[in-house]
Amino acid sequence: MSKIVLQGINKFYGTNHVLKDVDLTIKDGEFMTLLGPSGCGKTTTLRVIAGLERPQSGVITLDDRVIVNTEEQYFEPPAKRGLNLVFQSYALWPHMTVFDNVAFGLKVAKQSRAEIKKLVDSALSRMQILEYAGRYPSELSGGQQQRVAIARAIASSPKLLLLDEPLSNLDAKLRIDMRSELKRLHQEMGTTIIYVTHDQVEALTLSTRIAIFFEGVIEQVDTPMEVYQNPATLRVANFIGNPRINLLEGKAKTDSKQLTVTSALGTHVFAREQCAVFPENTAFDCTLGFRPEQITISRQETPDAVRAIVYSVMPAGSETLIQLSLSGQTFLAKQLGIKRYETDETVYITVPQELLNIFDQRNGALMKPADSEEM
Ligand SMILES: Nc1ncnc2c1ncn2[C@@H]1O[C@H](COP(=O)(O)OP(=O)(O)OP(=O)(O)O)[C@@H](O)[C@H]1O
Ligand SMILES: [Mg+2]
Repeated sequence: MSKIVLQGINKFYGTNHVLKDVDLTIKDGEFMTLLGPSGCGKTTTLRVIAGLERPQSGVITLDDRVIVNTEEQYFEPPAKRGLNLVFQSYALWPHMTVFDNVAFGLKVAKQSRAEIKKLVDSALSRMQILEYAGRYPSELSGGQQQRVAIARAIASSPKLLLLDEPLSNLDAKLRIDMRSELKRLHQEMGTTIIYVTHDQVEALTLSTRIAIFFEGVIEQVDTPMEVYQNPATLRVANFIGNPRINLLEGKAKTDSKQLTVTSALGTHVFAREQCAVFPENTAFDCTLGFRPEQITISRQETPDAVRAIVYSVMPAGSETLIQLSLSGQTFLAKQLGIKRYETDETVYITVPQELLNIFDQRNGALMKPADSEEM
């Protein structure tokens, strides 16, 4: 069992406030990804969990054992926490072969020779580097070294694994292979994994939940599905999804019962019950969010459709991206397969009202989520 709870973690480097009141619970067996742009504090969070950095305030528990309590000046030493780490810069022993690097932890754990060989070979073949077992790290490419580092961390079937951008040096194909290996490993071993990446596709495909950081603050912790369908803020909405979410300016008005939104897509009315927050009797600027695949394009006019102009068409084999222009704003639609539209052609588009995200521009917060029943 491995469960980690971070409460009220603050970390400063000099005057630089790097982690701001971070609260995060990582459940047993979870694949939790810390996602966010460069410099937002992902590596620092891992280092604080591993015990390589001391936060100025906060409490961390590991399986109900307190490992950090700043009020009591208690910091359990890294070695006692028993965590397996793979760093952004993979520190391999230069004087040991690949085999010995991976076997190192197992030898310390005093396993039999035959057992060690079996575990090392299995970890190396998973990472597709068994043929390099006899080489030294200096004789390997960056991507190969990175896979040795992962093999070393997984060889002992750890209960808890901390991985900091472990696939960053791999080419596109290997990265997809390794993602699939990590996903299988997680399922087979039931390991709790804390994974750092700034690649949102990686986060969406691997994780059971994602914690999204901006400038040391966690803005949302949710399943990949929820983060994608209902981003908690405009910042998260902009960060998740490729191609990006479409954002459209609108005007919002509430009375005591309903929210009325007017935009280039027309007028939409939502019941109070559909809203996550409901400021009564106010008018404010809002932003409508909808994903490229949620747009339906037709050449026939229908009552609820709005007129748009095709700005450009980008076929990409399995899908076609269509840039549309609507009342001076452009956005992107995605359709499966090859679609033929002419540049400057007039089309009629609809976006299902239930799927719209409505954000309050005053604070960027999601006020009307998508209705998941409709997806
Ligand atoms: N040892 C250090 N001393 C001083 N400042 C540091 C130190 N380590 C990190 N920082 C600063 O703390 C902030 C967060 O850094 P961190 O390494 O956690 O970012 P990150 O989210 O992992 O980014 P990346 O995706 O680029 O790896 C940055 O502003 C960084 O410059
Ligand atoms: Mg980092």
